[in-house]
Amino acid sequence: MGDAASQGQGPGQLPAERTAPGDSDLVRAARGLPVARTPVWFMRQAGRSLPEYRALRAGTAMLAACQDPDLVTEITLQPVRRHGVDAAILFSDIVLPLVVAGVDVEIKPGVGPVIAEPVRSVADVDALPPLEPDRLAFLETAVRQLVSELGPTPLIGFAGAPFTLATYLIEGGPSKEHARTKAFMYAEPAAWARLLEHLSVSAAVFLRAQVDAGASAVQLFDSWAGVLSAADYAERVLPYSRAVFDGLGDRDVPRTHFGVGTGELLALIGDAGADMVGVDWRVPLDEAARRVGPGYSLQGNLDPAVLLADRETIDREVRRIVQQGRAARGHVFNLGHGVLPDTDPGALTHVVELVHELTTR
Ligand code: CP3
Repeated sequence: MGDAASQGQGPGQLPAERTAPGDSDLVRAARGLPVARTPVWFMRQAGRSLPEYRALRAGTAMLAACQDPDLVTEITLQPVRRHGVDAAILFSDIVLPLVVAGVDVEIKPGVGPVIAEPVRSVADVDALPPLEPDRLAFLETAVRQLVSELGPTPLIGFAGAPFTLATYLIEGGPSKEHARTKAFMYAEPAAWARLLEHLSVSAAVFLRAQVDAGASAVQLFDSWAGVLSAADYAERVLPYSRAVFDGLGDRDVPRTHFGVGTGELLALIGDAGADMVGVDWRVPLDEAARRVGPGYSLQGNLDPAVLLADRETIDREVRRIVQQGRAARGHVFNLGHGVLPDTDPGALTHVVELVHELTTR
């Protein structure tokens, strides 16, 4: 397992030119500092697009796998070895803090998180169990193992933002319109505030555990925030995402904030306390840079569906994004959302090579 990190050779080559993950191109780009080349990683880079992932996961439920430090370590390393990406992201899930706290959640294959007893009342909010930090020993073990295996490659820790977790808790599972969530937000403002406060505390506990064990950067996923108007987002959601970042105190790791369909929210999203804003494929990065304003790096924003197209199309889109990303103070190449399960892993490796080739200073 340690070979990939120490050898730095072959197709799964790890960047060897820097020695400390805290000084890696990923961390530097997120902070707007000069880089050797544009760093690249992929949301959901560990997962079903990789045959080695499917083999390792066979017979183990998703949420059990997330709590097994050796499996977490191995699954997290798989895409780093295979693609030579510039960062690892911890193999886990946004619902894990709920699971560890004792909420009955299952991840149904092909569906997503399903909650046995959805939150529908003030009493339901008050009954949510808190996340006790001492139940995260498995996570700390996984992060420590990973940091030692990864050498100079940074590990990104992550958490789900309060709003996106609230959608699962209230809807009881994945949803398109998030109508129940919004109805609860409008009709029960006090319970809404308590729910988001609860979720911001557990997200902060979850992130702190990862950073204190050695993660070099963090990302807060507010995947479904794009369903909100800017006014509702600013008033009823943003303060709780800010509380998550604030919960990191002075821990010196760059912070990324990401959501899907957030074009109308880009001016606000960084304001939660991010160094870097993740952008989906709907807004080109030069326009996104204008909307987020100075003081933020950008991450993104290749449409994951492009990876299902021919090489010529992929190359054209990668070149466009690299070019438009130059408008930001720093750019981390990524997809606009997670890798689709049908993606040919070879296309991902190719994108890593192309981004590096196009941007080596
Ligand atoms: O990015 C990575 O490689 C790290 C691992 C990661 C997973 N989930 C693993 C996973 C991360 C960062 C997440 C975050 C997550 N989980 C988000 C935010 C990011 C996003 O995609 O918007 C959300 C909304 C979830 C909730 C969730 N968990 C969904 C929607 C699904 C997919 C359901 C399905 O089967 O299509 C999951 C399950 C999940 N999380 C899988 C993986 C690899 C697939 C489970 C499997 O392999 O059986």
